[in-house]
Amino acid sequence: MLEELNRLEEEALKALETAEDEEALDQWYRAYLGRKGAVTRMVRSVGTLPKEERPAFGRRANEVKQALEAAYADRRETVRRMALARALEEGAVDVTLPGRPVVRGRLHPATRTLREIYAIFADMGFQVYRSRDVETDEYNFQLLNMPPHHPARDMWDTFYTTQEGVLLRTHTSPGQIHAMREFAPEPVRVILPGMCYRYEQITARSEIQFHQVEGLAVGRNITMTDLKGTLAEFARRMFGPERKMRFRCSHFPFTEPSVEVDIDCILCEGRGCPVCKHTGWLEILGAGMVHPVVLRNGGYDPDVYSGFAFGMGPERITMLKYGIQDIRYFWGNDLRFLEQF
Ligand code: DAH
Repeated sequence: MLEELNRLEEEALKALETAEDEEALDQWYRAYLGRKGAVTRMVRSVGTLPKEERPAFGRRANEVKQALEAAYADRRETVRRMALARALEEGAVDVTLPGRPVVRGRLHPATRTLREIYAIFADMGFQVYRSRDVETDEYNFQLLNMPPHHPARDMWDTFYTTQEGVLLRTHTSPGQIHAMREFAPEPVRVILPGMCYRYEQITARSEIQFHQVEGLAVGRNITMTDLKGTLAEFARRMFGPERKMRFRCSHFPFTEPSVEVDIDCILCEGRGCPVCKHTGWLEILGAGMVHPVVLRNGGYDPDVYSGFAFGMGPERITMLKYGIQDIRYFWGNDLRFLEQF
C-alpha cells in the first residue's frame, strides 16, 4: 500500500509538469485530489488496512496530499505567469514602427483668393454681404438699368429657369440692390462675394460657373477719387507695391462713368508676352460710379448720395497671380492641380 502511495505521488508530480493551461490543471486536480481522485480514494481506503499499518499509512497519505496540494498551487502560479508572458509577446506593439502620415486637407485656390480679398477690404471697412444665387430678371437686369430688350443684356448669356422671370445670377451686381434696400438711407460699404453662372461655351478663359466679388460704397460726397484710391490700395496689397495700374474708359449700364482696371503684366512686367497678349496689361476688374437710376432703385436720392461699385473675378485673379493657363482647372476636381496650393 505504501509503495503504491509513493508511486502515485511520483506519477502525479510528473503529470503536473505537463499541465500547460487552466484546463489541464483542473483535469489533473480532478484526477488526483478531487472527490473521486486517486489520492482521495487511497486515503479513504485506510480502513481496509490491518490496524497496525494504519497510522503510518495515514501520516504518509496526508503528507502526499499536502505535497500535491502545494505542487498544484505552485504549478498554477507558473501556468498563470506563462500565459501572461505569452499574451504580452503575442500582443506586442512595435513602437519603433514609423506612424502613418496624417493627410491634411487644404483650401481650394479660389477660397484662398476670396479670403485674401475679404481681408484686404475688411481693412478698408468693407463688410461681407451675402446675396442669393437664384435671382429674378428684375434684380439681375432691370433694377441695374437694363430693361427688357436692352442690348447690354447680350453681355451676359443667361441660364433661365422654367419659372418665368427666375434665373441664375450672371453677376454679383444684383446684390447691390439687395444691400442698398436693406441699408438705405444709411451709408453702405460692402463686398458681395458669390458664385455666378453663365450659359457660355466652356473654354480656357470662360466657365459656366465662377466667383465674383462685387464692391459697393454709397454715401455723401463719394467721388471717383475714392474709387481709384480704394482699388489702388487693393491692387497694391493683392499684387505687390511694384504693380502699375491703369483705368480705361468702358461701359456698364449700372455705372456712369464706367471704367475697366488693368495692372501691368505680372509675368513680363509690361514688356509684352502671350499672357497679356503682348499689350503689357492685364484686366482685373470693372468699376464705376453707381448710376443715378440704380441709386434711386436702391432707395437713395441721387441728388444727395453718390457711390462707387466694382466687380472682379477671383479665379481670374488667381490665374494671373500663379500663371494658371486654364480656368477649367478650378472646378475640374483634379488633385494634381489642387495639391499645388
Ligand atoms: N457685373 C459686371 C460683370 O459681371 C462687373 C462689374 C462692372 C461690376 C462694373 C460692377 C461695376 O459693380 O461697377 O461683368
